[in-house]
Amino acid sequence: MSSIKQGVQAQSFSEATLARFAREVAKYPAEQKQSAVMAILSIVQQEQGWVSPESEQGIADYLGMPAMAVHEVTTFYNMYNQRPVGKYKLNVCTNLPCVLRDGQKALAHLEQKLGIHMGETSADGLFTLQQSECLGACADSPVMLVNDRHMCSFMSNSRLDQLIDDLRAAEGKA
Ligand code: FES
Repeated sequence: MSSIKQGVQAQSFSEATLARFAREVAKYPAEQKQSAVMAILSIVQQEQGWVSPESEQGIADYLGMPAMAVHEVTTFYNMYNQRPVGKYKLNVCTNLPCVLRDGQKALAHLEQKLGIHMGETSADGLFTLQQSECLGACADSPVMLVNDRHMCSFMSNSRLDQLIDDLRAAEGKA
């Protein structure tokens, strides 16, 4: 687990963002407001694209919990971005069952197609390529998740090419 930076300045959030936080906190008894941490992290990521150490500190202050406890949540779930990512975050499952059914090959194909290595973002800012743990669809391997929401199954090289080409076309970068 990566360590949180010392002496980080807490981010202050807009009134609109604080109102969204408040709606999440209101779902829990007052003494359990820390239970809203995942929802609040999601709001920050939705608005900023990632969760910075400054945001973690701001959330910690808002919820009355240690920044490290917020950081532990951010780093436990790979849906939270700990650095800026491309417009399309591509998470390819490389857990063992998928590796046995071409998961690693799918990742390698995307690396070659995008001209980046796993963990990197393409120069045009469109794609970030990552590995993921089991996505719960091992029988459909190779599988990947786009932007933490859209599951893509049976991703042969031709289907991967089609996906990238379609996304590029949608962005006018075909
Ligand atoms: S191991 Fe890849 S989806 Fe389960």
